[in-house]
Amino acid sequence: GKVLLAYSGGLDTSCILVWLKDQGYEVLCYMADVGQEEDFEAAREKALKIGATKVFIEDLRREFVDELIYPAVQANCIYEGVYLLGTSLARPVIARRQIDIARQEGCAYVSHGCTGKGNDQVRFELAFYALQPDIKVIAPWRVREFYDRFQGRADLLAYASEKGIPVVQTTSKPWSTDENLFHISYEAGILEDPDVTPPVDMWKLTVAAEDAPNTPERITIAFEKGIPVKVTNKDDGSVVTGSLEIFMYLNTLARKHGIGRVDIVENRFIGIKSRGCYETPGGTILRVAHMDLEGLTVDREVRAHRDQHLTPAFSNILYNGLYYSPERSFVTSSITSSQVTVNGEVRLKLYKAHVSVEGRSSATEQLYDMEESSMDVQGGLSPQDSEGFIKVQAIRIKKWGESVIRNGGK
Ligand code: ARG
Ligand code: SIN
Repeated sequence: GKVLLAYSGGLDTSCILVWLKDQGYEVLCYMADVGQEEDFEAAREKALKIGATKVFIEDLRREFVDELIYPAVQANCIYEGVYLLGTSLARPVIARRQIDIARQEGCAYVSHGCTGKGNDQVRFELAFYALQPDIKVIAPWRVREFYDRFQGRADLLAYASEKGIPVVQTTSKPWSTDENLFHISYEAGILEDPDVTPPVDMWKLTVAAEDAPNTPERITIAFEKGIPVKVTNKDDGSVVTGSLEIFMYLNTLARKHGIGRVDIVENRFIGIKSRGCYETPGGTILRVAHMDLEGLTVDREVRAHRDQHLTPAFSNILYNGLYYSPERSFVTSSITSSQVTVNGEVRLKLYKAHVSVEGRSSATEQLYDMEESSMDVQGGLSPQDSEGFIKVQAIRIKKWGESVIRNGGK
């Protein structure tokens, strides 16, 4: 049969390619360009050289930004309070195109190089099954003949030399990474001890705060319905529009100012704890800006429901690989509806790993009333009204206070 393999060009998926061929499959390779730094043409050559019959390299960057990154920004998505979900966000677009190509090429099988302990296997496979319920998945790292044979990197290297698979790096970095336009992740290897501080040269996308420029940079981000539509930078004269262009520009600025590094021990969907370090430069700026504009433009109760229910729901859906699910469309349609008023501009200062808000405005918001909020102006609300408000709120609280005192303070 024909199998479409999600190929990275690295040692693992190159060995998987040859191993699948040895099992009698015709192997086609698929590489998704989601903005990672990669020599795609070199990887294409390598795949063809070691036996792929076709190689597909697909630029998914704009759909990644429009369909995943910006909806996550609208929802202020975050996992366990720290992780901005960079790997999780890319999986739905990668899996979707893989199924499209498998269908077009008549592949009954798809394959990937995820381990049997992680989140990614779940994310890819739930997406595959939602989009093509009868697809057959080959996950070599969960196939006994495969993982018995390849117990470590040495076995992969031995196989590579036996099969004539070119190996570019002989010493691999002592951790594993996953990179895309939104972020890079670092896990495993020396990072598995949660008390090991990452070496300073691990961080790839951002500079250290100590090395960031000593002068701040100021930008203004304009949002429409919770989506960034323009960035202006008076310091360098830039005016940037276009979804992908905006995101890439914010990445450039954030990387230069050292913005977006985190280090977390997180809970994987399957129940294992895992230590991860992440750099999410542009996404960190957008999170600060978007949350700030919501303060000015979103109704209190809409915001409360969104924060309590929709933000964690969408974040967990993404993390757990349930993007293609009935609950996801339900949740994102509510999030979209929460964003109709999120129009306006946020002014930011970028300085030494920090994003600070310097002001915000909205031409359309109707909720904030400067007179009503003013300490100096006597507005529609009279002091007596507030007194009554407190009295009514106090009815229940006084009763509770009395009972506590009656019970001797317990
Ligand atoms: N722990 C993160 C997540 O589950 C990052 C996973 C990185 N994946 C990888 N194949 N290196 O989203
Ligand atoms: C993997 O196990 O393949 C990477 C880590 C993860 O998916 O959580």
